[in-house]
Formats: sequence, C-alpha cells, structure tokens
Amino acid sequence: MHILNLLVCPLCGASLSRTDKTLRCTAGHAFDIAKSGYVNLLPPGKEKNARTGDEREMVRAREEFLSLGYYSAITDALADAAAEFAPRDSYTVCDMGCGEGYHTCRFTGRLAERTHAEVLAIGFDASKYAAERGCKRAVRDGLMPKDGVGAPFEGTAGTYFMPGNIFRLPLADHSVNVALSMFAPVAGDEAKRVLTPDGVLIVVSSGKEHLLEMRQRIYDDVRLSDELPAVPDGFCEIARIHNRYTTEIQKTEHLMALFTMTPFYYKTTEAGRERLAAVGMPFALTVDVNYSIFGVA
Ligand SMILES: C[S@@+](CC[C@H](N)C(=O)[O-])C[C@H]1O[C@@H](n2cnc3c(N)ncnc32)[C@H](O)[C@@H]1O
Ligand SMILES: [Zn+2]
Repeated sequence: MHILNLLVCPLCGASLSRTDKTLRCTAGHAFDIAKSGYVNLLPPGKEKNARTGDEREMVRAREEFLSLGYYSAITDALADAAAEFAPRDSYTVCDMGCGEGYHTCRFTGRLAERTHAEVLAIGFDASKYAAERGCKRAVRDGLMPKDGVGAPFEGTAGTYFMPGNIFRLPLADHSVNVALSMFAPVAGDEAKRVLTPDGVLIVVSSGKEHLLEMRQRIYDDVRLSDELPAVPDGFCEIARIHNRYTTEIQKTEHLMALFTMTPFYYKTTEAGRERLAAVGMPFALTVDVNYSIFGVA
C-alpha cells in the first residue's frame, strides 16, 4: 500500500502523484512538500477552520513528556486492541488529531511487530508545528522517507504526518481500516466516510481516575467521572477496554511538562500550579484510560 493511493486532492477529490517536491492531482492542483516532509492539504481559506490546533508550548510539553515513556503502556494497549479486534494482513490507519506523533509512531511499530502485517499510518493534526515534529520523529524512527510524502520507501511499517482538519480529511472514501481518536475531538461522520465497511474506530478517552493525584493537588474539589464517548452515528460498540496503572513521576520538570499538555493547564490558578510544582518526588500518579472500539454499523 502506498500513501498516494490514500490521499486525494482537497480541491477536487482526484488522485495525487509526486514530481520533484510537489504533489499534483490529475486536474493540475499543486501542493508543495514542506522541508520536514509533510504536505499541507488544507484547502486555501480553510486553514483557519482547523486552527483549534495546540499552541507550540503544548506541543513541546507533549513531546517532552511522552518521550519519557510514562504513557507507553497507553499506546501498547491501543495497538494490542487493534490487533485483537481488527486482525488483518495489511493495515491502513488514520490518527485523527495525532498531536506530535509519539503515539502514532509507537502504535505503528507495535502493531507491525505483533501482527507481522504491513502498516501504513497517517496522522492529521490542526497544528502545522505538531505535524512537523511528527515528521521528524517518523524519519528518526525509520518510518518515513526523509524526502517526505510520496518519496520511495522500502519499509513495511510507515507513518506520515500532515496538517489537516479531522472534520474534512484529504483521504479517499473507504481508504483506511483503522481510525484512531486519542484524547481528541471525535469526528464520527468523517471516520465513517474514510473507513472501509469492515473497519474500526478506536476512541481513547480519560477514565475517572486519570491523573487523580495531580487533580487533587491543583483543585479543592475533584469530581470522578469518565469521559466516555457516545457511540457515533453509523457505528456500533464492539468492545470497551479499561486500562489503569500507577506510574512514578521521577522529576518535577516531568510533572510540569505533563501538566502543560493537559486541559488543566488553562483552568488552574497560580496557587494550584505552585502546589503542584512543590510536590515531593517520586510522585505516584494514576493513569486511567478507556478504549472504545466501534465497528461500522
Ligand atoms: C489533547 S491533544 C492529543 C494529541 C494526541 N492524540 C495524543 O494523545 O498525544 C488533541 C489534539 O487534537 C488536535 N485537534 C483539535 N481539533 C482538531 C481538528 N479540527 N482537526 C485536527 N486536529 C485537531 C489538537 O491540535 C491536538 O493536537
Ligand atoms: Zn485537484
């Protein structure tokens, strides 16, 4: 499977091919490949619609924290769920709101290793900076050619990143068999359009005790509630997996990077932030997530 078999021109829906540093559709619309290797397939004028993307500071914090490995078990359980509930010889994956790419790259590697299948994943995020960081990581991990989208690539596990709006993806209808949504808005209708009839959508969301000890430090009153997604229209729930573990945060700077990548960052008082920065290390922290596995109905 080649990435250019999945992508379509965002202006007219025609297929794309690469010449030099440009992707062109059969009608002549042209899209330059950026230095980091992605291609921006947001149609002109539509870019601002997708600007709910994380700010640079959050992307950097996410990259710093995730690279430390505290969340690796979240990704591994996700890949194991895909292997169990969507077994196949060849995967095409779309990660909707992928952030800076840690989970997408790890997911690809783990799924390929577990199933010996060919895996081709594309992560889309509203933040161009996140897509750029994702490309860097994928090239470093040997998952993407350094010349970018559409360049020759020998590997059987590939991961690409591009800026994109998950509510309007430049992907052909029924072109992917796994759609992922991790801690991101769920674009159910678009997932349904791009998935094959036997495809699955896996939504990863926070369980009620997720980061409990952090919340107890920053808020006076902590409510325990799951953030389980509703079943999107046109899907049925196949399974739900609950994964809860305790991790020991080793350094204050790790904890503060985690804090900066969460929505709490925007909602916490200075006093709450200071209380968190003062906790002793190591700090035991609950990680609690749900995986909702939806099949196309
Ligand atoms: C909380 S982050 C999660 C990132 C990644 N999935 C992870 O778990 O590390 C949510 C991401 O969704 C992205 N996002 C939000 N709305 C989006 C949209 N309409 N299109 C594309 N990405 C979007 C944000 O830019 C952000 O990177
Ligand atoms: Zn076109």
